[in-house]
Amino acid sequence: MTMDEKLAINGGPKAITYDQEEALKWPRLTEEDEKAVVSLMRKNEISVSEEPMKLEKEFGQYLGVEYALAEVNGTSALYAALFALGIGEGDEVICPSYTYWASAMPAATLGAKVVFCEVNPDSLNIDPEDFKKRITPRTKAVIPVHLWGLPCEMDEITGVAKEHGIAVVEDACHAHGAEYRGKKMGTIGDIGIFSFQASKNLPAGEGGMMVTANRDYFYKAVTLGHYRRAADLPEEYSRYQHTSFGYKHRMSPLHAAIARVQLKTLDEKNKIRNDNVEKLLQALDGIPGFHIYRPPEYIRRVYYENDIVYREEETGVSMSKLIKMLKAEGAIVRQDRYPLLHQQPYFTEKGSNPEDLPVTREIREHVLALPTFPGDDGTLVEQYITAFRKVFSLL
Ligand SMILES: Cc1ncc(COP(=O)(O)O)c(C=O)c1O
Repeated sequence: MTMDEKLAINGGPKAITYDQEEALKWPRLTEEDEKAVVSLMRKNEISVSEEPMKLEKEFGQYLGVEYALAEVNGTSALYAALFALGIGEGDEVICPSYTYWASAMPAATLGAKVVFCEVNPDSLNIDPEDFKKRITPRTKAVIPVHLWGLPCEMDEITGVAKEHGIAVVEDACHAHGAEYRGKKMGTIGDIGIFSFQASKNLPAGEGGMMVTANRDYFYKAVTLGHYRRAADLPEEYSRYQHTSFGYKHRMSPLHAAIARVQLKTLDEKNKIRNDNVEKLLQALDGIPGFHIYRPPEYIRRVYYENDIVYREEETGVSMSKLIKMLKAEGAIVRQDRYPLLHQQPYFTEKGSNPEDLPVTREIREHVLALPTFPGDDGTLVEQYITAFRKVFSLL
């Protein structure tokens, strides 16, 4: 028998035998979540309720920010943020292309032009130098996305933004609990937005939050989509209480109830992911082809996803072959999932050049997504390490 035949892809035994369903299950709901939801149902509070406001208070306190507005989802939270900043036709908003579509679309639906910028090929986050180059007299805001839970280089971004009078709207939908120089993500820019969709580190099923230290932005966002609450604001806003600005962004209380329960264990659950992922990444660090980004010590990241750069030209094993071999060993791995936004018809039909952003286009081909092990006691991650070592030692 040759060495190659020992690989599972060649009929050998699988390295990963552990039942992954439980170790990778997300969200992790308990009886406490059920009780919180049922209690609201018994009170008949399935629409109008204080529950989203309680979540605002608790999440705002957790982040250390003055104003928090619960929203129907993260997309609506970003729409509200840009509306509050007065962004509309004739304005430009800078955003990375390598992100979920909801980072860019609210600016577009408000009538602004989305100007896509490059990411840093190591961190995969917005490149502050490239952001700077794309500023024009029409630029009104930049949207740094803390991709996969890794904080962007906020000092550089806010520095450039200040210099040019541009608002910073942090898309922290992947970064609940992550920190930059001791500050929670979402609280550093002018406005921060979060998603509580079921896959997120703080899952509620659906839901979102807009946070800010600026009272005027908060009031404007309330007036946009929370007509009942606008009634309690100063006249400048309350006169719109019978119409809002045409939107209804109120978060469902049942989802807010789940978010409140989940918030209690957010840090603990982030730590389980961090500990497990760190173990795996340490093991991969020495294997050729893997480029593991180590953030500076002032950044405390979380893992919404665990995506790393794999360079096939350094090993001679293509990404697709590697994925096939690892899958045969039982690993759940895939190539990254976000299509680049500047190449999508919505934007190319408006003149976006799909050949732009060479750094982003190149790096995206090399992103390998690995699990975050949210419910693993360390057993599964050990088997993943064995699987990687086996595949690479037998190549
Ligand atoms: C980076 C990013 N921004 C915004 C959103 C929008 O959040 P939601 O799905 O709650 O509307 C998401 C959701 O996945 C996201 O990943």
